[in-house]
Amino acid sequence: MMDKVLVTRRVFQRALDLLATRAEVLASPHDRDLRAEELLEMSAGCRALMTMPADRIDRAFLTARPEVAMVANDAVGYDNIDLAAARELGVVVTNTPGVLTEATADLTISLVLAVMRRLVEGDRFLRAGLFKGTAPMFMLGTDPRGKTLGVFGFGRIGQAVARRAGAFGMNVIYHDVEPLAEAAREVEAEYVSFEELLARSDVVSINALLNDQTRGAFNYQVLRRMKPTAFLVNAARGPIVVEADLARALEEKVIAGAALDVYEFEPAVNPRLIGLENVVLSPHLGSATREVREAMALLAARNIVAFLEGGEPPTRLV
Ligand code: GLV
Repeated sequence: MMDKVLVTRRVFQRALDLLATRAEVLASPHDRDLRAEELLEMSAGCRALMTMPADRIDRAFLTARPEVAMVANDAVGYDNIDLAAARELGVVVTNTPGVLTEATADLTISLVLAVMRRLVEGDRFLRAGLFKGTAPMFMLGTDPRGKTLGVFGFGRIGQAVARRAGAFGMNVIYHDVEPLAEAAREVEAEYVSFEELLARSDVVSINALLNDQTRGAFNYQVLRRMKPTAFLVNAARGPIVVEADLARALEEKVIAGAALDVYEFEPAVNPRLIGLENVVLSPHLGSATREVREAMALLAARNIVAFLEGGEPPTRLV
């Protein structure tokens, strides 16, 4: 009998075809986030799952479904999966690093430029019928050249953001748990403490994993240590920023603006942020290109097939 594999959202057919060479593929009939009890029910009898960031794979789930021996997250972030519990229970976990690095860095730099150049605010202004022609002092933004970009989380994506920032004439500093000498040399980025990152950056770009160290790292007190002219950009995970604190900081002009792709209580967005002109809000588009989403789903499928064949999944976490 073939192993059963659950795929929790609609993905590219090529990935499903690859899975079907080795498994009976069960697809969720809903193309929406599953409720915990739906996920539990649909996983019955499955040896492997292809999961999404909204699927919570915690200790309770893994204990209740001992037949699930492998979880392939169709994402690079894996904060939705309890890795310690997986390790303990002997469950293999994989993610999709590499294939989405450049796309996520593109989206990050788009947010940086959009908020600095007031692109989305300008679009709203025009659509509201308010555009009466340009003028020397009309809708002035901030020039990136000569400004300092501070990257919080200098992994693959953070480094790719740094490379792009160089092309816009920005100086790059970064903070991570430790200096990454080789990577930083390649992109000419300077390692700084968290304090220095806050104090020196004209734009802080969050490109870190969500974990116990980064959760809530950007609260009101922290935002107050940024420059009043600075922008905050987050294309990583929403809970790294305390959204109500960010709204307050923006309302009080503690910082100049923000651009977000991810939200603390996703898909909900703090209504106070929605009301602010100097905030760019995108709906978690980091890796959302046809090419990259297909590559991600194929990588997740390859991980599952390798596991089912008794081999080593190419991008194994645990
Ligand atoms: C998307 O959010 C990912 O982690 O790949």
